[in-house]
Amino acid sequence: MHPPILTTDLGRLHRGDCLDLLAATADGAFDLVFADPPFNLGKDYGKDVGDARAEAEYVAWCGRWIDECARALRPGGAFFLFNLPKWNVVLAPRILAAGLEFRHWIAVDLKLSLPIRGRLYPSHYSLLYFTKGKPRVFHGPRVPVPACRHCGGDLKDYGGHRGKLNPAGLNVSDVWTDIPPVRHRATKRRGANELSEKLLRRVVEMTTDPGDLVFDPFGGSGTTYAVCEQLGRRWVGCELGDCAPIVARLRGEASLFVPPQRGDAGRGARRK
Ligand SMILES: C[S@@+](CC[C@H](N)C(=O)[O-])C[C@H]1O[C@@H](n2cnc3c(N)ncnc32)[C@H](O)[C@@H]1O
Repeated sequence: MHPPILTTDLGRLHRGDCLDLLAATADGAFDLVFADPPFNLGKDYGKDVGDARAEAEYVAWCGRWIDECARALRPGGAFFLFNLPKWNVVLAPRILAAGLEFRHWIAVDLKLSLPIRGRLYPSHYSLLYFTKGKPRVFHGPRVPVPACRHCGGDLKDYGGHRGKLNPAGLNVSDVWTDIPPVRHRATKRRGANELSEKLLRRVVEMTTDPGDLVFDPFGGSGTTYAVCEQLGRRWVGCELGDCAPIVARLRGEASLFVPPQRGDAGRGARRK
């Protein structure tokens, strides 16, 4: 694996194939692995990155880095895989076969696309949560009691139990309806597939302590690494394609993303 292209006090970013980086990683090195791979939808991630494999080939490729991530996970560590339900239903048994224990299938409520004829409207992504044996860290997240934004009153009737609710908020369920899509051009770092920092913050705070080591094999715009910097977690990053958006983000520089103009086909271009 090549030397890192960026280091901070907390982390290091490598440009290259995550399988090469994993091959050079000791057993049990990571406390948390968060993986948001390409979904095999034929997206353009740049000339070095393929995203249109035959289905069996895609599943076999995922199996290879899943095995390596499971090996590189510390006992008690957490493994998350964000993907389409179509893939995660096939990949979950691969993760079990790699020796990890199932904790949750989290439905992240985000509209995927336009309605598809003859199907239900796809409205959630799957976030699989596994651990290597008994979880070492689990800080159950809480959210504020939902209130009406006009009058401030409760949205739900808790009957006689209102006074017994935990003042820190409600337990988060395995259906996450509060994760916003990253759409605003002022905060966007790439044309597509950028995850919300809110999602990563929840995952990282739930399953690690400050100083723990987090690995995300598929850097994209660097959301995981930016969140680790904010939360005082150490991190290792990897991206096969263009790393400039990650480097700019971690250096606190302006986004390189330029939204497509009316008439442009597809995703946004990058400012040179
Ligand atoms: C869905 S995006 C990740 C987005 C990221 N979670 C974010 O919030 O910006 C997947 C990324 O994985 C990268 N990638 C694909 N194959 C890879 C590989 N073998 N090793 C490392 N990165 C890879 C792609 O270039 C793409 O940027």
